[in-house]
Amino acid sequence: MSQNKAPKNHVFYRNQNWKYPRIERGEGVYLVGEDGRRYIDACSGSAVANIGHGNKEVAAFAKEQMERVAFTHLSRWTVDTIEKCAEKVCQWTPGDLNHVYFVSGGSESTETAIKMARQYFVERDGKDSPKWKVITKWNSFHGNTLGALSMTGIPGRRQIYEPMLIDFPKIPQFYHYRNPWNAATLEETSRLAAQALETEILKQGAASVAAFITEPVVGSAIPGVHPDKIYFDMVREICTKYDVLLIMDEVMAGFGRTGKHFASDHYQVVPDIITCAKGMSSGYTPIGAAVCNEEIFDTIMVKGSGNFIHGHTYASNPLSCGIAWKVLEIIEREGYVANAALQGAYFGERLEELYRYPIVGDIRGKGLMMGIEFVKEKTSKEPFDTAANCKGKFTLNCLDAGLVPYPGGGSVDGSRGDDTLLAPPITITREEVDELMEGLHTAIAKTCEELL
Ligand SMILES: Cc1ncc(COP(=O)(O)O)c(C=O)c1O
Repeated sequence: MSQNKAPKNHVFYRNQNWKYPRIERGEGVYLVGEDGRRYIDACSGSAVANIGHGNKEVAAFAKEQMERVAFTHLSRWTVDTIEKCAEKVCQWTPGDLNHVYFVSGGSESTETAIKMARQYFVERDGKDSPKWKVITKWNSFHGNTLGALSMTGIPGRRQIYEPMLIDFPKIPQFYHYRNPWNAATLEETSRLAAQALETEILKQGAASVAAFITEPVVGSAIPGVHPDKIYFDMVREICTKYDVLLIMDEVMAGFGRTGKHFASDHYQVVPDIITCAKGMSSGYTPIGAAVCNEEIFDTIMVKGSGNFIHGHTYASNPLSCGIAWKVLEIIEREGYVANAALQGAYFGERLEELYRYPIVGDIRGKGLMMGIEFVKEKTSKEPFDTAANCKGKFTLNCLDAGLVPYPGGGSVDGSRGDDTLLAPPITITREEVDELMEGLHTAIAKTCEELL
């Protein structure tokens, strides 16, 4: 039953059980409420506002671009900002991922990637190609539109839409803390998780499998969870062996968030397609992209029909592309990727302090993409009952302490399991990390008092 806490106006809010404080402005790593309260944005919205809030250079650029040309349709025109942004993105992507198909966000990017994969095999092998299946994972998030949700492995988000979804095969995640194999090390979990891919390809029949999609560091499903390098060594080999495209979903982890240009760089893996969004424009405009390699582009666009049967009105709009280009240029100029690595290492070290609290079960992540998992009991890893509302209490305590977390849940069995993503802007300073840590200590200590 709804608690009807949301403001009463004409907005169809996401959650009627939330009070929604009104934000007046943003300044760097801070959000400022209408009442003057300052919150440190410890999650950049949802790992979006990478260069922080209120950047005047981006605002000035956007104004100028709007006055010059705000919209053209990609079916007929090209604009310098579209070309410049694609060039910049390709300077960041690994290997020969040199062709950028722009869209408006993360779900569109993952849907674009799987359609690109399907059309690649049709162009290469003919219209009767049996390759269409996409292998995905439980405890993964790839978006909320129906195609993207079909890839997503979060039962709570899928349940009521289940009859409308495509039945893509799902394998276990590299979730070492709760791995289904009782593996003792991250390396062993990673090996077994990669082997599960080969087993599934053989079960489905390689001839029917078009792609495998994975996050390099997991975002909202189980924040901060990542594999050992061996996982991507094996996955790359398996995908190549069975003629399956490897799609890396970097929507959250890309564009400096983990202390590298793309999180794929941590594993020195070159996927066939990268999907990206969020930090690409730091939230100054909606944008996303599917970036593919030479082989896919050549097969569809050069040797094939030359026409990707896809498209959205706002794909490649010159305003969003210009803003994303400007944001990436600022990140390069200011050295924010290196800052994410530096402050990420410091943040990671300081987060270890939180193990002193009885409800902190696991802390993991890379760079400034960190996650904390809460438990009722550390040795057994028993989660809280959903009725205890651990993540809700933690969230309110964080807001009281002046910081904004990105809580999540359901990783244990679809409903139980409480966690939070911590992903502040990659512009964060050491002093701001200290301030964030102070707030976290206060919020977690209070949550312990309320729960235990
Ligand atoms: C890894 C990943 N893929 C896809 C998406 C979907 O992106 P969007 O919400 O922009 O549609 C998200 C969003 O959080 C994500 O984290």
